Amino acid sequence: MYFIANWKMFGDIKSLNSLNKVLKFLRLKNSNKFRLIYCPPYTLLNLFHKKIKNSNIELGAQNCHQEEISGPFTGSISSKMLKKIGAKYVIIGHSENRAVGETNLIINKKIESSLRSGLKIIFCIGETLQQKRKKHTHKVLLEQVSKGLKGIKKLNNVIFAYEPVWSIGTGIIPKSNDLKKTIVFLRKNLLKRFGLKNPKILYGGSVNPKNVRNFKELNVIDGFLVGGASQDSKKFIDIVKKTFN
Ligand code: PGA
Repeated sequence: MYFIANWKMFGDIKSLNSLNKVLKFLRLKNSNKFRLIYCPPYTLLNLFHKKIKNSNIELGAQNCHQEEISGPFTGSISSKMLKKIGAKYVIIGHSENRAVGETNLIINKKIESSLRSGLKIIFCIGETLQQKRKKHTHKVLLEQVSKGLKGIKKLNNVIFAYEPVWSIGTGIIPKSNDLKKTIVFLRKNLLKRFGLKNPKILYGGSVNPKNVRNFKELNVIDGFLVGGASQDSKKFIDIVKKTFN
């Protein structure tokens, strides 16, 4: 099971202290049942890297530029830079970036170049409320997947995160039945279109210690992409604990 903390645009040097609890938990737990990945803002990647050295926590970034080679792209970070600083993963296609103009084409380029840089991709897909109301969920997901992965070879290094946009940060979660159907639909199509036999598919959107077990019990999810609740170490640890007990 994957547990991925997406800190979004939150956190400063002081917030690194909150990791002490998580490191302690990992020392006591020493489990190979799960992977813990932190995606802090760029400004904290280096400090995180130092802090989590010799632990089981892995490092990821929240986005990158589509060109992997350095160039005149003011304000951007390349996947190569991320790799060099110790990141193993990068989140691509988060709805908060799609909402400000990131297209499927750009996402495709970002995935391609990040894979070339040796990063693993946390590829976010999901429908908006309007698309859900029109019953376009499956159609939207298929389009995001087929355009986002067009021409991509190393699909084993892509982890999928299904995040219904209307569930992110709202406290509203999908009905169990709907979620299960959507994940099964995705699995079927990833097999049919890309030959992916056992893709890792995570769920994201308002995951917290109280609801996580319901998701786990669906038996079709390989982990969680957690926003809000991941900034509170106690809650994040509780999410891991509740998943297994
Ligand atoms: P949330 O965010 O857990 O705060 O809903 C999830 C995400 O945006 O990845």
